[in-house]
Amino acid sequence: MDYSRKISERLWNQSDKGELESHREETYIDDIIQKNHLERRLLENLAGVETVFDGGAGCGRFSILLAKRGCRVTHFDISQPMIDKAKELAEAAGVAGQITFVKGALEDLSAYADCSFDLVISFDAPVSYTWPNQERVIEELTRIAKKKIMLSVTSRLGSLPYLANPIQKNQFILDENAPDSFVQWLVKNREKAVGGFAFNRRSAEELLEGGLMGGEAAIAEYERGGAPWCITYAFMPDELEAILARCGVKSIKMAGPGAFARTVPREILVKIMNDPRQRADFLAFCYEYDSNPFVCGMGKDNLFAMGDIIRG
Ligand SMILES: C[S@@+](CC[C@H](N)C(=O)[O-])C[C@H]1O[C@@H](n2cnc3c(N)ncnc32)[C@H](O)[C@@H]1O
Repeated sequence: MDYSRKISERLWNQSDKGELESHREETYIDDIIQKNHLERRLLENLAGVETVFDGGAGCGRFSILLAKRGCRVTHFDISQPMIDKAKELAEAAGVAGQITFVKGALEDLSAYADCSFDLVISFDAPVSYTWPNQERVIEELTRIAKKKIMLSVTSRLGSLPYLANPIQKNQFILDENAPDSFVQWLVKNREKAVGGFAFNRRSAEELLEGGLMGGEAAIAEYERGGAPWCITYAFMPDELEAILARCGVKSIKMAGPGAFARTVPREILVKIMNDPRQRADFLAFCYEYDSNPFVCGMGKDNLFAMGDIIRG
């Protein structure tokens, strides 16, 4: 049984997923920084791009942005609630006519011919949720791209600090009084998470060596009828770069959105975010710092890569 895909389908098809996901940038500072980085990357690379495939497009954060810039976008996602939310937002933005919404899994892109889209993107980890097919999925995303590909996947080095810091997400809460249920859970459980924590060297070494998060525990929960977090494959930077190079991608650039911000305490991050001028300067500086390939592995959750498709 393809557990990875089934677990992903169940998790992302929960009815509130689209609504929750569409508010992330009002709620979490790491999401603001990450999406800002990806948006800048896109806007700097749109010359000659008319058609885009957005794989695991969610509630349309980037498909709608690209449609507003005049691109024709295929918004592809495994989750109907995500697609429904994206349609609603695209209609409100007046660009629904430029977006084709497709429900499907990245594991099967056979409906698309080679070089179908000028630009292929897949942001915020959809590729990592296709384990054990992640390499094949990257090959397929590259096959359907004509000019450029941009991916952000789960970062192995960037995810490892979770195993020594159960309260790492608390650092990035914008407003601790926000009505978001996960924010309230994080705030309420902070002391308990610290009190109950013990560092487990074996788990950290297993993740460092194998890159897999989830596995048996997620399968058991799925079988009990639950909706566990996706089995997630976390990439090393050199590994992702090598896969893209093997697929013929040239001029590969890597980045680690969130690498700079993860060194800053919450009180300071909140202060910066609440002052429009400091916020704009900080986001611009994060983009510069996080684009340095020497820090790409230490992005907050995500590892970014982009490159050119040059055939024959
Ligand atoms: C964290 S969200 C990212 C959404 C969007 N790309 C963004 O950056 O805002 C991950 C998305 O991947 C989708 N997804 C997960 N596994 C998938 C799969 N195997 N095939 C297609 N989409 C998938 C989910 O439904 C969800 O919308």
